[in-house]
Amino acid sequence: MQKPQADSIDVKVDSILKIMTLEEKVGQMNQYNGFWDVTGPSPEGGNAEKKYEDLRKGRVGSMLTVRGTEQVRAVQKIVVEESRLGIPLIIGFDVIHGYKTLSPIPLAEAASWDLEAIQKSASVAASEASASGINWTFAPMVDISRDPRWGRVMEGAGEDPYLGSKIAIARVHGFQGEDLAAVNTIAATAKHFAGYGFVEAGREYNKADIGSVTLHNIVLPPFKAAEEAGVKTFMNGFNELNGIPVTGSNYLLRELLKNKWGFKGFVISDWASIGEMTTHGYAKDLAHAAEMGVKAGVDMDMESYSYIDELVNLVETGKVDVALIDDAVRRILRVKFELGLFDDPYKYCDPEREKNVIGSKENQEAVLDMAKKSIVLLKNNNKLLPLKKKGQKIAVIGPLADDNNSVLGSWRIASKDSSGISVLDGLKQYTGNDLMFEKGADLLTNEPTFINELAFNTTDTSGFEKAINVARNSDVVILVLGEHGFQSGEGRSRTNLDLPGVQQELMEKIYAANKNVVLVLNNGRPLVLNWAANHIPAIVETWHLGTQTGNAVAQVLYGDYNPSGKLPMTFPRNVGQIPIYYSHKNTGRPVDPQPGANMVFWSHYSDVESSPLFPFGYGLSYTSFNYSNLNVEKDSYALNEEVQVSVELSNTGDYDGKEVVQLYIRDLFAKIVRPVRELKGFQLVELKKGESRTIKFSLTSKELGYYDQDGNFTVEPGEYEIFVGTDSNASLKTHFILKE
Ligand code: BGC
Repeated sequence: MQKPQADSIDVKVDSILKIMTLEEKVGQMNQYNGFWDVTGPSPEGGNAEKKYEDLRKGRVGSMLTVRGTEQVRAVQKIVVEESRLGIPLIIGFDVIHGYKTLSPIPLAEAASWDLEAIQKSASVAASEASASGINWTFAPMVDISRDPRWGRVMEGAGEDPYLGSKIAIARVHGFQGEDLAAVNTIAATAKHFAGYGFVEAGREYNKADIGSVTLHNIVLPPFKAAEEAGVKTFMNGFNELNGIPVTGSNYLLRELLKNKWGFKGFVISDWASIGEMTTHGYAKDLAHAAEMGVKAGVDMDMESYSYIDELVNLVETGKVDVALIDDAVRRILRVKFELGLFDDPYKYCDPEREKNVIGSKENQEAVLDMAKKSIVLLKNNNKLLPLKKKGQKIAVIGPLADDNNSVLGSWRIASKDSSGISVLDGLKQYTGNDLMFEKGADLLTNEPTFINELAFNTTDTSGFEKAINVARNSDVVILVLGEHGFQSGEGRSRTNLDLPGVQQELMEKIYAANKNVVLVLNNGRPLVLNWAANHIPAIVETWHLGTQTGNAVAQVLYGDYNPSGKLPMTFPRNVGQIPIYYSHKNTGRPVDPQPGANMVFWSHYSDVESSPLFPFGYGLSYTSFNYSNLNVEKDSYALNEEVQVSVELSNTGDYDGKEVVQLYIRDLFAKIVRPVRELKGFQLVELKKGESRTIKFSLTSKELGYYDQDGNFTVEPGEYEIFVGTDSNASLKTHFILKE
């Protein structure tokens, strides 16, 4: 099919708009959740009948969480055949880390620093979702966050706006592909605009208070990158920002996104967030909230009923200009046209495709590949890893070791519970069924679900003894501990970032029995791991890796895959250090002025080092890499010239391997104080053992500049330092001058 031209779409959109009643226009701006079985009888209670009725009357523009070709076809049929204009629905869904075949949680994928793989992962998710009737995902979440207490860090790309922007672009391209009208691509959403990752104290849905320098330099860049990559929709956040709920932020949505950036797609509210402006204390009632939402620039209301119940009246009483409604509807219809829904409303409802694509061998292989790339080796003393394929007695211990549900992670509404491959099952393929397994303890005392609080086992240690015995009788213990897959994600804030339940105690007992412990961590956020880092010889960060978890972990532990992941978020030494991130400011008193004199008047803590346990960008390999000959081509450059940097990388170890070469800059002084380091380039480089290569970077004003308080981009002359190396503590250093 020919891709429709933008101008011809605009003509078509206008011709529809002309024949729409006000109520039908408002209907396009209304999204309902499809919580009921649309092909079956409507449930008792609830408001399913109202929803059916509204679908028939053209009072619904979109549904979310309806899935499966049969279900989607059923709702689509109601609007197409029974509503006056038959405008097809756009069907949204949280395709966050895969659809049915799950890839690693987004934070884990970010740890790969592999943009090609991340893009591929999003395209696999899009192909499965689209095969199930869905044509719009509420992803990628591009919220930068520096607070692991906030459970939703699992859903983003970590703490850094440069890495976050690159990943945002990769994900948008992955979901949307080159042709949005193709049957295997879906519209993406950049969310949650903006500042949600900065909720105070990491408490979910809390307010955010951030200055304009942080807003423009840290929070907004990934959103801008997504916009420039052509993302079709934005979702606003639940939070207020500096006193204004972002759902009602005229500045963010209208002035910045739509006017300054020129965004042509549409904005969806977060779930009920328009209505929640009353609870925030910003709107006096639902009508007022609807008025503020539409004026600010929210084009579609997700499940707060504010637009469908109030907008017609607001227009008729002159409170809202119909031009705002027309603008919103134009934006929504344009995306529907671009998806090809007007050509064929059932184009995503092909049961044959559904059968062939979802869970295909090819998709399983793709998520396995992504899972291996997401693993970060945090520690490997005495070369305990990789394990030997023969002649080692292996004990597998830990509450998460045989868990094929937790590994799936948090956002997996479309997949079957317990459909993942556990670490134990993955390892069995290498060691046979005679490998020794003892759980040691349970993690939870209740059935984990997406919506309910988890209850942890804090008392039952009755399985310890058996586990300790097994540890004693083995050469190496693989200890699988961490957070349950449902312990991070929305509504999952924590103040304690340790290993929950009795896991710490279990770890100490096992270590006392056998020192050869490989700690395999499952978690959705940075954890506090001091004891483990001080004692356990090998630590492997495996996050929640999705459907293929066990296979990925086994291949890494046995050396069939050499890990190359790097942390996308700083791991603190304790919760009191949070927010902790590599790109901090220097302060006026960064170092102890008289080491040894025990002075207090410098920026530090009295009870813990200021440095993190594991820094941003950190991750080991089974091989080792050496950096040398860092060079900047010239001593000074004109403001608009490209700065050329090179470094030599050598694989000096015993394995072929991959390394993420990272480049950081520091603008030594500026009109706005700049961070001590900022990531401005990285390359994933594969080297055979013994091989060396010269790696080149070029820095343009895009990398060297920053946003001032008013959000204007500026590049300042002056001195810049460059650091290149294996993580954010890279010590190879050079510098150059940018001339006036
Ligand atoms: C989340 C969004 C999500 C939406 C729809 C909200 O609770 O904040 O990220 O897309 O629900 O499920």
